[in-house]
Amino acid sequence: MVYLWSILCFGGLVTVLAAWLMISEHLLVNYGFCKLDINTGQKPLEVDGGQTLLFTLYSNEIFIPSACGGKGSCGHCKIVITSGGGPVLPTETPYLTRKEIRTNLRLACQVKIREDIYVRIPEELLNVRMFSSTVENVHNLTHDIKEIQLHLEEPAEISHRPGQYIQVQAPSQDGPVFRAYSISSPVHEPSVVELVVRLVPGGIGSTYLHNLSVGESVNFTGPYGEFYLNEDPTVEIVCVGGGCGMAPMKNIICTVYKRWPERKCWLFFGCRTSADVFYLREFETLANKHPNFHVVYALSDKLEGDEKWDGKTGFIHLSVDKHLEPGAKRQAFLCGPPLMIEAVTRVLKEKGISSEDIFYDEF
Ligand SMILES: Cc1cc2nc3c(=O)[nH]c(=O)nc-3n(C[C@H](O)[C@H](O)[C@H](O)COP(=O)(O)OP(=O)(O)OC[C@H]3O[C@@H](n4cnc5c(N)ncnc54)[C@H](O)[C@@H]3O)c2cc1C
Ligand code: FES
Repeated sequence: MVYLWSILCFGGLVTVLAAWLMISEHLLVNYGFCKLDINTGQKPLEVDGGQTLLFTLYSNEIFIPSACGGKGSCGHCKIVITSGGGPVLPTETPYLTRKEIRTNLRLACQVKIREDIYVRIPEELLNVRMFSSTVENVHNLTHDIKEIQLHLEEPAEISHRPGQYIQVQAPSQDGPVFRAYSISSPVHEPSVVELVVRLVPGGIGSTYLHNLSVGESVNFTGPYGEFYLNEDPTVEIVCVGGGCGMAPMKNIICTVYKRWPERKCWLFFGCRTSADVFYLREFETLANKHPNFHVVYALSDKLEGDEKWDGKTGFIHLSVDKHLEPGAKRQAFLCGPPLMIEAVTRVLKEKGISSEDIFYDEF
């Protein structure tokens, strides 16, 4: 009991002290103007000190990926700070490897600008734009997944690679927040961004998107993401997804068959029950047109009422293991929950696909 009280008192004291330090810093410390130098003079800025680097860059229309909206819980906002970032903070270390710390990578949402600061931002991120769009179409794919089509207004077109994502601005009690959603429409339809969104109960971004009606405005930034499709058509493409992890797969597959009708491509899609199955008929139609396209859907929890299901059952990594012969030149794209990604990656490596050829987004 005494131990418990000591721990509670110590915890309380630390919290009060931290809050006091934050309030004092906010009220008393004025950092004045600081220089924010991007890519050694490419984009020199003079900014107000005291804000986070992520917020300051956003205010200057430089949009860094920030799937958690700056809460320090996604690890997406990594950029190189060559000078002026101060020491690495305990809130950053869970998301940075030793190598990343050695190469000066930092979480932009955790670093505050307190002095002149020098950063390196990849050219691709400097080209990310804010888009305004109008909802063109919304329809239910399953009991908790909707397909939402956005027609771009300004700019009128987006240039993206298959598998990339956008960050939708959603209203919340504490002001606008951003959430990441993969683009499911193919790259040859630049005036449209289609999303496949699963409703997370109580979730800010997914609830906002699920409640949209045709004609409403939606703002987003993008495109973001590290997926690179191999341009060599002799390299087989393997897509593995589950749930809303379908979005980037649809984009990749439609893009592949627009450009290379003969290319070999696999889609493995894991669902819990038949109620979670969607786009199967569309992919079967595509497979009839392109004999080198192979579609495998598998149910992990076949339930009562699923008797009519004559497709595969079991976890999706088992289907991948069963269908892929080892040895072919392949590139793989995975999207879904972390456990699925881990299991599928293990199988793909056993089949001879190297880590550099396996791209994944966990969500
Ligand atoms: C690169 C990338 C691409 C993504 N693409 C898509 C996509 O195409 N379609 C899509 O639907 N989502 C996608 N996501 C996930 C999406 O960004 C949001 O995380 C998700 O919609 C939940 O956000 P929210 O604002 O609704 O919930 P929040 O308000 O952030 O969270 C509400 C509560 O739900 C919990 N929670 C958050 N996320 C999940 C989850 N996935 N499952 C269960 N509980 C959760 C939180 O811990 C919290 O307690 C992607 C994420 C990333 C990083
Ligand atoms: S924005 Fe998510 S960790 Fe920085």
